Amino acid sequence: NHVQNGFPDAFLWGGATAANQIEGAFDKGGKGLSTSDMAAYKDPYITGKVNNFTFNVTSKELEKYKTDPQNILFPKRWGIDFYNRYKEDIALFAEMGFNVFRLSVSWARIFPTGLENEPNEEGLAFYDKVFDECAKYGMEPLVTMSHYEMPITLTEKYNGWANRELVGLFEKYARVILNRYKHKVKYWITFNEMNMNLNSLYTGAGILADLVDNQLQAAYQASHHQFLASALAVKAAKEIIPNVKVGCMINHIESYAKTTKPVDQLQSLKSNQLNLFYPDVQARGEYPSYMTRYFADNNINLDIKEGDDKILQQGKVDFVSISYYMSHVTEAREDASKLAGSFDSPIKNEYLKLTQWDWPIDSIGLRIALIKLYDRYRLPLFVAENGLGAKDAISIDGKIHDDYRIDYLKQHILEMREAIKDGVDVMGYTTWGCIDLVSCGTSQISKRYGFIYVDLDDAGKGSFKRIPKDSFYWYKKVIASNGNNL
Ligand code: BG6
Repeated sequence: NHVQNGFPDAFLWGGATAANQIEGAFDKGGKGLSTSDMAAYKDPYITGKVNNFTFNVTSKELEKYKTDPQNILFPKRWGIDFYNRYKEDIALFAEMGFNVFRLSVSWARIFPTGLENEPNEEGLAFYDKVFDECAKYGMEPLVTMSHYEMPITLTEKYNGWANRELVGLFEKYARVILNRYKHKVKYWITFNEMNMNLNSLYTGAGILADLVDNQLQAAYQASHHQFLASALAVKAAKEIIPNVKVGCMINHIESYAKTTKPVDQLQSLKSNQLNLFYPDVQARGEYPSYMTRYFADNNINLDIKEGDDKILQQGKVDFVSISYYMSHVTEAREDASKLAGSFDSPIKNEYLKLTQWDWPIDSIGLRIALIKLYDRYRLPLFVAENGLGAKDAISIDGKIHDDYRIDYLKQHILEMREAIKDGVDVMGYTTWGCIDLVSCGTSQISKRYGFIYVDLDDAGKGSFKRIPKDSFYWYKKVIASNGNNL
């Protein structure tokens, strides 16, 4: 009966990445083209927008990218060349003391089109080597099965997750990787940030938005298919790997009410419900009742088949993971629920500073999120992403003095520790982009998150050399002291 005074002994400390943002080698090792290979870089200096999201792709653009990609940059195709440099990178993570490393498997490396009956052995062998390398240093891999990509064939043939066919194709893929890595991986996340379907149909669900009539309907139908696929993957994981731990994940954006007016408070509650809808289904195994009215009010008619409820019940997750970057402000207005699924909020919080990409910095919001999530699910939580995207410069001494990043992470770790003292069960923390990588939203590498600098520019020019930043040595101390020496 004592207050947990800090991080538990078994706490998992590490960093997070995604295949399409680090691997490169997009056409090597038998890999098929994936949706992320079609995310073009749009120069912010030309478009004049810092948050120059390259999230959505139209059918016209896709056609152009495939047939005439002249003068267009696709940075996710080269990533940071982790495919060839994984040994050096994992050794650097080990030097910081990581006991967990979050990464994802590229579906198109395992099933190049998603339609094959047999997996691509070369792709499977690549992740064997990566997991073996982690094991050498006692690092647990935390593996996301689907992090914002899929074989492009599935977009072309089915318009991605709009089509129920994807459920079975995903289950086939999940079973293959679970079987193959059953002795090497015990922590899994089925889908990265499923709630971002509301923000970008292409990134999360491989849907060309111009080919659907009602985008909101498509987002929720795709989510329903992903819920089924996730539940079937959880069920398969339990059959295949004893003691496996499988989690769901959302991009958690806490919505504060703009004023104490009850209507604004009510809107904040409803905006948060739209965010929590995803773990509500995945942790409780059923649709929450509040969505019935939301679907009716928004003319959303989901195609839910008989027996789907049973699948959801059988595929409940063991833990809930979140990425946490920011909080938002909401108020009672027409477009409020639309904004609940968006990165951009038109209402500014005057008490918060912004990053160079205009993301509000709110470490206390992380504590609030953790407390609320634990209250709601009573399941262990995992902070699977958190970090600061910033421009870094190499100083004349050859070093990268990123005290701003240290400060950001320190504040968030402090608040996570407070949440643990508040009684929340947090299993682990993986900072986003522990090594610089290609940004998901903007395809820039100049939006850097890492403890390790990668010598590369947005056009893919550079030596690919890795240089530890000041934050590298700081995080090493944090891990060595189990979060006491911040
Ligand atoms: C999360 C994604 O939304 O945020 C990551 O899971 C992404 O893939 C991260 O990289 C940061 O976003 P961005 O756009 O700065 O790369």
